[in-house]
Amino acid sequence: MNLIIFGPPGAGKGTQASFICKEFKLVQISTGDLLRKEIKKNTNLGKKIEQIINKGILVSDDTINNLLEKIISSTNNFNKLVFDGYPRSMSQVEKLNYYMEKYKQKLSVVISLNVEKDVVKKRIEGRLFCTTCQKTFNEYFNPPTPENHDCEKANIKKRTDDNIKTIIKRFDTYLEKTRPVLHYYQKNSNFYEIDGSDDIKEIFNKIRTILSNISN
Ligand code: AP5
Ligand code: MG
Repeated sequence: MNLIIFGPPGAGKGTQASFICKEFKLVQISTGDLLRKEIKKNTNLGKKIEQIINKGILVSDDTINNLLEKIISSTNNFNKLVFDGYPRSMSQVEKLNYYMEKYKQKLSVVISLNVEKDVVKKRIEGRLFCTTCQKTFNEYFNPPTPENHDCEKANIKKRTDDNIKTIIKRFDTYLEKTRPVLHYYQKNSNFYEIDGSDDIKEIFNKIRTILSNISN
């Protein structure tokens, strides 16, 4: 199956997408992670992307679509795609529909995590990630401990766009550019909305139930 895990910044898309991929043996396609990889390479494109991400606005559709076509066309990913943070604009929706048809793929389900701005602010302010294993934690809700994390403590970092000014801008960008995408998918029969302010495990239980009933 191919699916979209949708929601505002900090909704828990990445957290839930990684659980889904582990349990259902799917491939997580986080456009945010792909962009951060490009930044790490220190290319000219990476430098431009970094400036945009730190402003809390969207990277150009062309940049995103180029990255996505390579992934969707890969036979290794056939019918295994979990889109996390994509599509984020109506023009990305149109391109995704085009790619899915071109590469004979089908979107099985869209799951939206519904979370209010105040919850998101606190989550993003507290987010931590490990530069070695890429696991995400939260200093308030889910801190790294010897029980849940094996890597060196020194590898735990914060994202450069996880400061309050950028968080507010990211949320406003979501409202302006990405909410129309939600309204578009809401009309589909394979659309599910989940309360994203629930407990992490509770949310995954609901997602598991939805996905277990999908045949492809
Ligand atoms: P991206 O990296 O996708 O950031 P985002 O959409 O702002 O979402 P986040 O990654 O911040 O949140 P999340 O929903 O994944 O939450 P997480 O699971 O980490 O994009 C970054 C930037 O790249 C964008 O601003 C844009 O510039 C650019 N970009 C990316 N995609 C693009 C596209 N398609 N087009 C154009 N530009 C694009 O959880 C957050 C925290 O909360 C964690 O600490 C976690 O442990 C905690 N948490 C999660 N769930 C719960 C819960 N239920 N209860 C308590 N804590 C929780
Ligand atoms: Mg994420």
